[in-house]
Amino acid sequence: MSHADDNDSTRRDFIYYATAGAGVVTVGAAVWPLIDQMNPSADVQALSSIFVDVGGLEPGGQITVNFLGKPVFVRRRTAEEIEAARAVDVSELSIDRESRNPNKPGTDASDENRTLDDEGEWLVMTGVCTHLGCVPLGNGAGDFDAWFCPCHGSHYDTAGRIRRGPAPENMHIPVAAFVDDTTIQLG
Ligand code: FES
Repeated sequence: MSHADDNDSTRRDFIYYATAGAGVVTVGAAVWPLIDQMNPSADVQALSSIFVDVGGLEPGGQITVNFLGKPVFVRRRTAEEIEAARAVDVSELSIDRESRNPNKPGTDASDENRTLDDEGEWLVMTGVCTHLGCVPLGNGAGDFDAWFCPCHGSHYDTAGRIRRGPAPENMHIPVAAFVDDTTIQLG
């Protein structure tokens, strides 16, 4: 990929973030009764949970939402992406074999342990490179056609697992769950 492509990609990701991110996120704080705001822990609790409407996402679509000051990638994977991720045996993961998924603590990094749903369509992860914290480029970037961090050359696969480069861990997964068919709660 040329330098110009990198720049284009960065700009595209940013524009998508700025437009799509704002439209689909509702902050939990809005539904908290006033009385709870008197409680010192209430605002912490309210801010630590957001709801993301994913009803408009087609396979191959992705949105980036800002959660607790970090970008979270919410991706509806294509059948090809799911197949590629599930074809990888954990023993092939030479850098990190842990799921890094607090929703399935202590599990290995099989694709099934990384995704939000059993079918593996939904991948939700913190979009921060585990090397030094850059935001990786997405939409088929890098050697594994998924995510690539150009800062120092870390390549992640379609499950967000680190496969090549200096990053030491798979991209982390936040606490997340579907609360209905089209809404994901983060936190
Ligand atoms: S911050 Fe991603 S490779 Fe260094």
